[in-house]
Amino acid sequence: MHRKDMEITMKYAFFDAKPYDKPSFDAFGDKAGIKFKYFEAKLDTDTVNLAKGCDGVCIFVNDTANAEVIDALHELGIKAIALRCAGFNNVDIRHADGKLAVFRVPAYSPYAVAEHALAMLLTLVRRTHKAYIRTRDFNFSLNGLTGFDLHGRTVGVIGTGRIGRVFIDICRGFGMKVLAYDKFPAKDADFRYTDLDTLLRTSDIVSLHCPLTDDTYHILDEAGFGKMKKGAYVINTSRGALIDSEALLEAIKSRHIGGACLDVYEEESDIFFEDRSGHIVDDDTLARLIFMPNVLITSHQAFLTEDALEAIAETTVSNITEFHRDGHCQNEVKAKVLTL
Ligand code: NAI
Repeated sequence: MHRKDMEITMKYAFFDAKPYDKPSFDAFGDKAGIKFKYFEAKLDTDTVNLAKGCDGVCIFVNDTANAEVIDALHELGIKAIALRCAGFNNVDIRHADGKLAVFRVPAYSPYAVAEHALAMLLTLVRRTHKAYIRTRDFNFSLNGLTGFDLHGRTVGVIGTGRIGRVFIDICRGFGMKVLAYDKFPAKDADFRYTDLDTLLRTSDIVSLHCPLTDDTYHILDEAGFGKMKKGAYVINTSRGALIDSEALLEAIKSRHIGGACLDVYEEESDIFFEDRSGHIVDDDTLARLIFMPNVLITSHQAFLTEDALEAIAETTVSNITEFHRDGHCQNEVKAKVLTL
């Protein structure tokens, strides 16, 4: 029988499993002959032995695959790390070279993230989160719920890749004016690029859609917020450390920034995705931001749609199948490429 026609049966240890992961991974896994063994624990040096007897591990953003974990996986005979996300900053790619293959899901649904950004903006601008709580308590007063029209307002979009461009399309549908800034502007753009300073000084709403790099770390800091219009709103669905949280809190306290929609937070890794109710919050900045009436925080949820989960499972399963069938995979993250 030709190698490509063989039935594939593999076992993958699935770390940091959440109930919403299982339906799509089971459906696509069953079709491809891949059995996912689900563990609630995150992958780290203490949990790595759970992968014993498996062909690979499937991990997410807060699992740890450092040199020590990679060596332990290698000793267990694990062949691959299948990331079910785009980012790979939690994997020591260079150390994995020659020991394990690492592959990822480069894109799933830009609509999920862009639509969540707009959902947060509409919620905060029209106070629907407050209205929902009021009417459940039979409080039908409108006092304090005055919003503003998005139509005619200027939105400044930083990062015009897959998500930024979908967000721009949605905003134009609302009749908003769009300004954009990107370090690598798109050649086929049908919107206006400007420099970062002009964008910050001119926009009523600034939305971040760039990756976290050395260049973009704290792209909105005290100086950045200082340049923004008084009363302007900021949206961050990208990575927490794009914003200096302390500077944002000060800008909110001084009434300079009118509102903030945050799906990500720079110290989120031990907090987000988990039920922390009943715990004492150690992070004073986060606690203060959460209590601000004009700050809306969601827990890194922008990706969480049925469509995105399905696309993530489909690509992960296809990566695993391709790798075990052909010995390589188009979505592999290679150490050689990183050093170019
Ligand atoms: P992409 O790679 O398609 O686009 C990123 C854009 O940022 C590119 O146009 C790039 O040229 C631009 N860029 C790079 N460096 C820049 C700089 N220094 N200044 C300004 N622009 C710069 O990425 P995509 O798919 O649009 O994702 C954007 C971000 O969204 C990701 O980096 C990720 O952090 C975040 N994300 C968040 C999710 C969530 O659930 N909250 C889910 C998925 C992605």
